Amino acid sequence: MQTKEIKILVTRYENLEELITTDRELVLAARQIAETAYAPYSKFKVGAALILDNGQIVKGSNQENAATPAGVCAERSALFWANANFPNSAVKAIAISAVDQSGNRALHLSPCGICRQALLESEHRFKEPIRIILDSRNNIEILNDVESLLPLSFNGNSLTNGNNKF
Ligand code: THU
Repeated sequence: MQTKEIKILVTRYENLEELITTDRELVLAARQIAETAYAPYSKFKVGAALILDNGQIVKGSNQENAATPAGVCAERSALFWANANFPNSAVKAIAISAVDQSGNRALHLSPCGICRQALLESEHRFKEPIRIILDSRNNIEILNDVESLLPLSFNGNSLTNGNNKF
């Protein structure tokens, strides 16, 4: 029997001013685009802003549906738009922010499992780590890559026992 320990690094910042300029811009963009969310059911408005390796910033917000699974999270709304319009550009970083039912920034925010999986695909596709910037009410947390959010993942290698180009 073997036990393996998996460690992830999370860097916590107390306020926006501590962030590097690009990360700060992404957080502000995520806060702004959260206002465009269509969230009449959950009333939880989420914004995501990502930056591509060509410098382009792409934003998305959650879009809900009366038939719940037909809705989409902010992260995938931004990611898929970016991948569709800039198919050759790697995502370098993504910031996520949310406003809850009371109009306050969400106490703690982290991408759902499906968004982690979608972001991981993009990380593998372009072989570039994607910084994850989580804008919560009392702090901002940054992870260096999507692997940190989704260890022991199912991915392209799982389909071919590692013998592939993914
Ligand atoms: N949501 C996101 O857009 N991103 C997240 O990281 C968490 C959840 C959305 C989905 C749904 O519209 C609402 O927030 C409540 O779950």
